[in-house]
Amino acid sequence: MEKITIKHELETAYGNIYGKEEEEALIGVLRNGAPSCGKKVKAFEDAFAAYCGTRYALTVTSATTGLTLAGLALGIGPGDEVITTPLSWIATSTAFSALGATLKFCDVDPKTLNLDPVHLEKLITPRTKAIVPVHLFGQCCDMDGIMGVAEKHGVKVIEDCAHNPGGEYKGRKSGSLGHMGVFSFHQQKNMCTLGEGGMFTTSDRTLFEKVLSYRSLCCRIYGPSDKYLSIDESVHPMEKEYWKLFFDDIGYNFRMTDAQAAVGLEQLKKLDTFNTMRRERAAKLSNMLGGVKGITLPWIYPEGKHTFHLYMIQLAKDFPLSKADFMWELYTKKGIKVWSHYMPIHLTDPYRARGHKEGECPVLEEAVKHHVTLPMHPRLTDEALTYMADAVKSLC
Ligand SMILES: Cc1ncc(COP(=O)(O)O)c(C=O)c1O
Repeated sequence: MEKITIKHELETAYGNIYGKEEEEALIGVLRNGAPSCGKKVKAFEDAFAAYCGTRYALTVTSATTGLTLAGLALGIGPGDEVITTPLSWIATSTAFSALGATLKFCDVDPKTLNLDPVHLEKLITPRTKAIVPVHLFGQCCDMDGIMGVAEKHGVKVIEDCAHNPGGEYKGRKSGSLGHMGVFSFHQQKNMCTLGEGGMFTTSDRTLFEKVLSYRSLCCRIYGPSDKYLSIDESVHPMEKEYWKLFFDDIGYNFRMTDAQAAVGLEQLKKLDTFNTMRRERAAKLSNMLGGVKGITLPWIYPEGKHTFHLYMIQLAKDFPLSKADFMWELYTKKGIKVWSHYMPIHLTDPYRARGHKEGECPVLEEAVKHHVTLPMHPRLTDEALTYMADAVKSLC
């Protein structure tokens, strides 16, 4: 691998790594005609389901389309409500808004900034169709609490696992903790499939079949040997000898290609190593920043496995610099790509236009005044980590 300078490693908040294995897998697919959903897609889906401990996995073009399909599988539409966190990439919400659902934003736990099950229960109404927890920054939500509320009220849970493929909660993998799970393999994620991509997981046969159908235009294809043709005497001989198509509903084309899946298979083999590298680097940074006045380090749930998609620190209320100045100094003077993932979704223009406003999620609204996300990825060297820790300390 090429030598990466400190500056480069810290200039990006993410660090995907492709190697010889992915190159060879890609060449293999090219020599095979590079199909759409071919053998590599099926192999990737089987391997991913086995990895997560779910009965089914289906590749999709992104987590956004995976969330859309999960919503379609539940029949979500106008008049239905979906409860989610306001602290996520906007796709977590827009996937359901685009289906016509009304979004309800749930406040967060101030330690992890993950969905708070106590507030969650207060938002449930007879119109609630789904709860969408996000395992933010790589740490699983309080799934016992969330599933307890969901089961009590008979509501389905769609885990947004975009930040934590391979993450665990009480010995179980993310994507197997709710009724459905959705992953992102975008270029910035812990594992990647050529820029875009995603996966849907479930152990529920009905939901699997719905997603399978909507992913591919709700199209059923019957071949000449299929029984139904022989029982219908009115069918023209042309149709008996040929393929016949049925469309069950209005669907989409959200299919992944074999080229992406071949790369995904190789990335999946490396995922545990990538995540271990992330955890080790996070632990080193925490060691170096431990005891520094004015910042709170990430709180790690002891019965889980964090995948450190990002490393969040919280600045004290009396921190000598404003959050904006702190980030600006690190970015412009030290070349470190800090950010503040994310802006509260309920306060973005499209959700303000739908009637959302300040005061809906007070814990979150206070927390985002102080939280900062630092780069965390497998390419960070000890030198880069020390440089980053010193840069942060110099401002504290
Ligand atoms: C938490 C979360 N959910 C969903 C998404 C959407 O993923 P994709 O870009 O694969 O559609 C992202 C992407 O950044 C994300 O971070």
